[in-house]
Amino acid sequence: MNGKRALVIGSGGGIGAALVEQLVASGRFDRIYAGTRRPDASRHPDVTTLTIDILDDGTLAEAGRQIAQDGALDLLIVATGLLHRGADIRPEKSLRQLDASVMAEVFAVNSIGPALAAKHFLPLLGRRHRAVAIFLSARVGSIADNRLGGWHSYRASKAALNALVRCFAIELRRSNPEATVAALHPGTVETPLSEPFQARVPPSKLFSARKSAALMLAVIDQLTPADSGDVFAWDGERIPF
Ligand SMILES: NC(=O)c1ccc[n+]([C@@H]2O[C@H](COP(=O)([O-])OP(=O)(O)OC[C@H]3O[C@@H](n4cnc5c(N)ncnc54)[C@H](OP(=O)(O)O)[C@@H]3O)[C@@H](O)[C@H]2O)c1
Repeated sequence: MNGKRALVIGSGGGIGAALVEQLVASGRFDRIYAGTRRPDASRHPDVTTLTIDILDDGTLAEAGRQIAQDGALDLLIVATGLLHRGADIRPEKSLRQLDASVMAEVFAVNSIGPALAAKHFLPLLGRRHRAVAIFLSARVGSIADNRLGGWHSYRASKAALNALVRCFAIELRRSNPEATVAALHPGTVETPLSEPFQARVPPSKLFSARKSAALMLAVIDQLTPADSGDVFAWDGERIPF
């Protein structure tokens, strides 16, 4: 895989940072672009940090221009997401708690932003060899699997993301048949996103970000264009829509 290029968007997040770390450690990529709203000085000579806010088309376009100058992308991982934020955004336990502005923001970050990222970066996927685009989703976004209810906005925004991923896969099949586009559930992972909910998770089911990243990269390695448009878990299991 020498000479390859990867982009991780949301590299300041728990899982995004772990993915960048492991891609660097793998030595399989010449250049790793780390897209984040809060760029810091690059930690490693193989990493180029880019300012990317998935809600700002301008930052996506500028990052796309910079990457395109270097060549095609072999791997794209969109690792952004929003479940809660302080007292403003809490996952709903009941429809009584639904709030239009909270719903709009959760959908903006979890569904619309990744779609804008797709608009700018899927056309940069290489065409002459294997190229993969991954959107981090969540098992709770499965409608078929939903027995508990609750977390209305988060669940629905991830279901919408999964539907978008299927659309991207169908569209890409025509223009870039070698490419694979899929959604991935990282497991329940020790990051700021899951922090308020970790107490109820058995320790064996709570992964470190490093473990989740390693498991997902192993799944990504196995994906082929025949898997495009589907949703997978950290162990490679196909999650129903
Ligand atoms: N942790 C879990 O247990 C779990 C379970 C299921 C699914 N997931 C999914 O896994 C993904 C990663 O989650 P995580 O646990 O790593 O969460 P996290 O630590 O809270 O990181 C989420 C990251 O999303 C990015 N982000 C949010 N709004 C953004 C915006 N407008 N523009 C660009 N980036 C934005 C931020 O990255 P920057 O700071 O770099 O801008 C933020 O650090 C999410 O899609 C999440 O839904 C996580």
